[in-house]
Amino acid sequence: MDKNKVYEELKVLRTNAYVPYSKFRVACIIYLKNGKKIEGVNVENAAYNPTICGERTAVSQLVTQGYNKDDVELLALYTDSEGVGSPCGTCRQTLIELLNPDQKIWIFNINEFSGEYTLEYFLPLSFTKTDLG
Ligand code: THU
Repeated sequence: MDKNKVYEELKVLRTNAYVPYSKFRVACIIYLKNGKKIEGVNVENAAYNPTICGERTAVSQLVTQGYNKDDVELLALYTDSEGVGSPCGTCRQTLIELLNPDQKIWIFNINEFSGEYTLEYFLPLSFTKTDLG
């Protein structure tokens, strides 16, 4: 996967974010092993709480389109942040439910590539279905 190409695709996708309140755009592309990609952006709401993050929009589409964690090659995330711009806590919990702990994640911010991570790095010792017995 070419980082510059991924960054360009994320920057195009970010323009679809619906962010009348925060003006902070997030775009997430899940690249599949079959060459397809699944996209999500953040979609805000006047009541604030119903706002959905870009990561959860994308991963919900992954499920909706009939794919699962083993179909995923790369999750790429863009945020308008000047820092790393890593996933929020709610997204971390949703992602660990639906993706593999060692899933590769690339994060890009407003200026540059911020780094390569794994999901487990963001949510160690996570609570999962194995805890429910
Ligand atoms: N946001 C995301 O889309 N993903 C995250 O992981 C962090 C926050 C969105 C929610 C809201 O639309 C905006 O960024 C500001 O919090």
